[in-house]
This record gives sequence, structure tokens and C-alpha cells, in this order.
Amino acid sequence: MVIAIDGPAGAGKSTVARAVAQRLGFTYLDTGAMYRCVGLATQRSSEPAATVARRIEIEVGERVLLDGEDVTEAIRAPGVSEAASKVAADPEVRQALVAKQQAIVADGDWVAEGRDIGTVVAPDAAVKVFLHADPEERARRRAAQLNLDPQDVLAKQRTRDERDSSAGRSTLQAPEDATPVDTTGLTLDEVIDQVVTLAIEAKEIQ
Ligand code: DC
Repeated sequence: MVIAIDGPAGAGKSTVARAVAQRLGFTYLDTGAMYRCVGLATQRSSEPAATVARRIEIEVGERVLLDGEDVTEAIRAPGVSEAASKVAADPEVRQALVAKQQAIVADGDWVAEGRDIGTVVAPDAAVKVFLHADPEERARRRAAQLNLDPQDVLAKQRTRDERDSSAGRSTLQAPEDATPVDTTGLTLDEVIDQVVTLAIEAKEIQ
């Protein structure tokens, strides 16, 4: 069973997805970390991003491994966020990563988080959630998390939101078949409860 959690940067996807997975005993898949690995590896390489995406070995779990190297912290650097956002707009990169992601979620129970999980990676997902929040609120959360200037984060977020909305991804609007959850003003526990309830309902129907 797959629970798909999509939405823009800073909507709380990672924290929520991780907590939901833990509550339900599912495995958490952070697909953004995979795009971040391609971004980082492309920065280090002279090859085009698509070639890099097809060549590298990515392991996402408690730690993120890129060709065996632990890059869990390195992929969170602001420069890598930019690089990831750029390579993610390349359809060939997306094709390579979507294939890897589909192979991962083919067996078992997953909470997969990203931008295109419910639409492309797992269109048959049992639960599709679109998490969003006001842009200012998202920037504030990111800034607090990474100890950065909120105004600076907001400006960069705008550019990234626009870029992330290309290449068939619905970053800023919920797809029709997803349940939109606006996290502005909600506590983390309230959001987690909502998603867990949707998952339990879906399990009962299955
Ligand atoms: O969620 P994140 O910030 O870690 O994602 C990093 C970048 O990868 C971001 O610019 C959006 C992109 N991404 C994507 O295009 N599709 C996904 N399924 C996940 C992330």
C-alpha cells in the first residue's frame, strides 16, 4: 500500500510523512532526497544531469547514501537545494528517478513524499494527500529549521516554486484526486492525525 504525500517545499511533508510512516509501521520514502543526490552529483561532475541520474546509486533510508558516501547532511545545503530544483526540471532526470522510485514502492507499505507521487510515481496510491501552507508560513518554517533569513528564504522559495511547477508537476495546486490539507495554523499532531485517519479509512475499504 502506498500513501502519497505531495506539496510544495516547506509545507511540512517530510516531518508529516516520517511520523505517519512510524505510526502505521510503513516505510518512509523521501523522493526529494533522490533529486538532491542528483543535484549534488551533477555539481561534482562534468556530465549532464540525466547521465548522472542514470549512473549513480542512491540509497534512501535513515541515512542517504550516494554511491556509498553518506550525504545526509550535504544534500541539505542551500546550494544543493538550488541544484536539485534545476535537475528536477529535466524530463530525462525525472524519468530515471521515477523508474527507481516505482521499483522501490512496488512491494510493501510506503509513505512516499515528493511532488509527483500521486500523479506519476504511484497513480494507484491508496491515499493521496496534498499538503500546503501559505508561502510566508512555509518560508518561516524553512528559515527556522535551517537558521536562515526568512525574507531570503521567501524570495528563493518563489523561484523554486515556479520551477518546481514545471515538467508536469503540480507543486502549487492539489490534483483533483488528492485530499488537500492546509497546514497553516495547524499543529504537527493535527496534520499527522488527519493523514493517519485517511490511511485507516482507506485500509478499511481495501
Ligand atoms: O522536497 P525537497 O525540497 O527535498 O525536494 C528537492 C527538489 O526536488 C525540489 O526542488 C523539488 C524536486 N522534487 C521533484 O521535482 N519531485 C519529487 N518527487 C521530489 C522532489
